[in-house]
Amino acid sequence: MTELLNIALPKGRLGEKVYDLFEKAGFPCPSIRENSRKLIFENPEAGVRYFWVKPSDVAIYVERGAADVGVAGRDILLEYRPELYELCDLGIGKCRMAVAAPAGFRDDPRKTLRVATKFTRIAREYYASLGRDIELIHLNGSIEIAPILGLSDVIVDIVETGTTLKENNLEVIETVLPISARLIANRSSYKFRSAEIGRIVRAIAGGAE
Ligand code: PRP
Repeated sequence: MTELLNIALPKGRLGEKVYDLFEKAGFPCPSIRENSRKLIFENPEAGVRYFWVKPSDVAIYVERGAADVGVAGRDILLEYRPELYELCDLGIGKCRMAVAAPAGFRDDPRKTLRVATKFTRIAREYYASLGRDIELIHLNGSIEIAPILGLSDVIVDIVETGTTLKENNLEVIETVLPISARLIANRSSYKFRSAEIGRIVRAIAGGAE
């Protein structure tokens, strides 16, 4: 009997859309739609085991082989550079990494810019490419508060609808990069389970407009 294909799904706003794609690709697991606190769902007939993890942890599961495939945002892949294969852009979870500041902010190039973010590598590389001297302040969440309380001058964070920024009187001043969800695979799973993984890629890529 072949082993179940382990699929790491990102918990949260993207998760259900991602599961829909896998279901359409021929890997259904109806029990996953039952609202419960369960984190692991199996459908032996379809050969799959799904599990919900924090979006920023999907790449760790896939890199280490605990998941054969998964879905992660381009932000996570660029920030952590996990050793895995990025198979395709799913065209969902679209947003952007942006620099935001309080309305009316003006950058003084003579001063070191204080940047608060969860994404220190992305921010460092972005400002290095501009030749701008910065001080990085690593935070784990509620980044929007930092410039309001004077902890930083600007933030580098994900902007989707812009509502969070707006409600905190912040505005985008620069776009760093566009982001979307990517299908990722463990390197050895990609080699040894190529038929199943290839089926997912073809079904999903074929379904994309
Ligand atoms: C992200 C980001 C913003 C928000 C932006 O957080 O950090 O706070 O989404 O979305 P909006 O432009 O649609 O308002 P997320 O909800 O992913 O969770 P996090 O705070 O755990 O990062």
